[in-house]
Amino acid sequence: MTPNSPAITELSTFAVDVEQGLSSSPKHIPSKYFYDAAGDKLFQQIMAMPEYYLTNCEFEIFEQQKEQILVAFGDNPFELIELGAGDGTKTKILLDYFLAQKADFVYRPIDISAHVLEHLVSDCARRWPDLDVQEVAGDYLEALTEIQQEATGRRKVVFFLGGNIGNFSQTQAVGFYRELASHLAPGDLVLTGFDLKKNPATILAAYNDPAGITAAFNLNLLHRINRELGANFDPAQFLHWETYNPASGEARSYIVSKTDQLVKIKQLQLSVHFSAWEPISVEVSTKYNDRDIKMLATQSGFEIQTTFTDQKHYFVDSLWYFKINS
Ligand code: AVJ
Repeated sequence: MTPNSPAITELSTFAVDVEQGLSSSPKHIPSKYFYDAAGDKLFQQIMAMPEYYLTNCEFEIFEQQKEQILVAFGDNPFELIELGAGDGTKTKILLDYFLAQKADFVYRPIDISAHVLEHLVSDCARRWPDLDVQEVAGDYLEALTEIQQEATGRRKVVFFLGGNIGNFSQTQAVGFYRELASHLAPGDLVLTGFDLKKNPATILAAYNDPAGITAAFNLNLLHRINRELGANFDPAQFLHWETYNPASGEARSYIVSKTDQLVKIKQLQLSVHFSAWEPISVEVSTKYNDRDIKMLATQSGFEIQTTFTDQKHYFVDSLWYFKINS
């Protein structure tokens, strides 16, 4: 591997973030590190669980409203940029329909997982030899900077699906969209999938399945630190804990230490002490209502153009129009 290959940059960012997060109080690790090869597989299993309704809802929206979605994008050629594309299962419904309608677009998937992206690109090439796919592996905003420098002059339609926006708090989300806007021109569009506030029991169950798949997904983070940073975490000495706060709309995941213990992380030359029942905060999944979404759009310089929702009104895909160039 060359010194600036993505795997090495990723590892060092990972190492730095783990070091910082486990040295702070309260301890935390960013949820984007869930997605190594093992994490990608576990996330596939999560999406197939009956409790994890998000994927099915967005699937239904795309299946039933693909026609209206394409109409809402307008006639001009566009660049379809997808942030956090993953395996693109839901996006493929739209790609297939857009191609059948002879829409003029380029598909640019962006994902933190180079592994997942490779799969997606080869799958697209197999299904649609004529589709122009130009992928970028990396952080959303870094990748957008790269794309912006190419200045194709095409209108951008940015996809941010599956409730990925939930990994920001509402305040962080405003900052994210403002930053996103700095990469856009007036008239560009953003389609975001928001998971909606609903019965707290339904939300909690989506992140706390009885089969323990979500627990395994979260605890994989400890396995990853063992594998990549030479740590000696014993995952059996930790448990998965989930909360949902209907006041903030935040579902939060914690990895909780069951005992007083010391963990060594060789590559960081670090020993981390855990008190009994001390948590590591690992994920937030923020839920929205229609007012929250409207406020978020307004505060970030966007106008809501159209909203697509499923029958149960569990999830919405909200299409925003960028108007201010600030
Ligand atoms: C991929 C961020 C949308 O927060 O619902 C699923 C990740 N974590 N179960 C979410 C996740 C635990 C998921 N997102």
